[in-house]
Amino acid sequence: MDEELLKKIKEKYEAQGEDPNVYLKGLLHQKPVNYWEYIDVETLLSLQRTKTGYHDETVFIVYHQITELVLKLMIHELKVLTGEETPSHDVMVDKLSRLNRYTSMLINSFAVMTRGMSYDDYNEFRMSLAPASGFQSAQFRLIELYCTDMKNLIHDSVKKDVPQDAGTRELFDYLYWQQAGYDRKTGKKSLMLRQFEDKYLDEFVELAERMKTRNLDVRSAHYNPDNPEDKKVINALRVFDRAYNIDWPIVHLETANTYLAKKGAKKRATGSSDWQKYLHPAYQRRKFFPKVWSSAELENWAKDRL
Ligand code: HEM
Repeated sequence: MDEELLKKIKEKYEAQGEDPNVYLKGLLHQKPVNYWEYIDVETLLSLQRTKTGYHDETVFIVYHQITELVLKLMIHELKVLTGEETPSHDVMVDKLSRLNRYTSMLINSFAVMTRGMSYDDYNEFRMSLAPASGFQSAQFRLIELYCTDMKNLIHDSVKKDVPQDAGTRELFDYLYWQQAGYDRKTGKKSLMLRQFEDKYLDEFVELAERMKTRNLDVRSAHYNPDNPEDKKVINALRVFDRAYNIDWPIVHLETANTYLAKKGAKKRATGSSDWQKYLHPAYQRRKFFPKVWSSAELENWAKDRL
């Protein structure tokens, strides 16, 4: 028996005013760890509850769940990057590399959707899912708020309409994503958008407030492109911005085109947006870190993908 280890265990519990013998006895009775309980495999595999009998609906649910897990990994790192403590240069590079790996996973696996379902089955079972849409992914919106200022999420054409004194909650009505569910002529929001805001808007407002002084875009301002070490961070931010806001949206849009625009007609999406326009990054122009791009790069955002 390692005496030093026993001494450390004794010290640990005594420092908490606890009797170390109780904890050592607990160890004696503890069952060995196994994979299925630790990973909670049974719970995980019980979460694919289809709404129809179509075989490919399982592919659709599982792939959305995989995406939500990857988004969770991204938020896990973004919390460190935007924490109260400013991250060191090394932490910035390491965490940004992780974000870039996770985004590559999303881009490289999207063929599971694009090519992995029967066109006819999809166009049947999707009717049972209205008005739900991937648009209602809260983690997707949280990532935006961790990454950038709200002003960067407002389309240029809408900026003139934003009142000077708009508070955080009011600003949400001008964000680019309102376009997918808001009819400016009637002033009405779609059911899909209303459901989403009823459920999550309070959480979004709270995060946007907290991130005002420390979102990733604010933190990126500390890096100087003329310094070779800082350049690593700036390059990683550029890779991330392009992958998350151009390459991933493009594979997603290709999928929507495959299922909703094949065979001639442009079908109405379950979330009912003018999706071919809305989803294209050259139209949407969402970007997180404008400071790391030249004005020509900003002007031509995603135009090469039109
Ligand atoms: C067959 C597969 C898919 C199709 C046809 C599709 C279609 C669409 C459409 C048409 C929209 C626009 C909103 C609407 O009118 O509903 C949308 C938005 C969105 N979808 Fe999908 N989608 C698919 C798969 C996915 C997957 C696997 C995810 C991963 C979670 C996802 C995440 C999103 C997100 C985050 C948005 C909002 C994008 C934004 O606001 O820029 N979609 N999707």
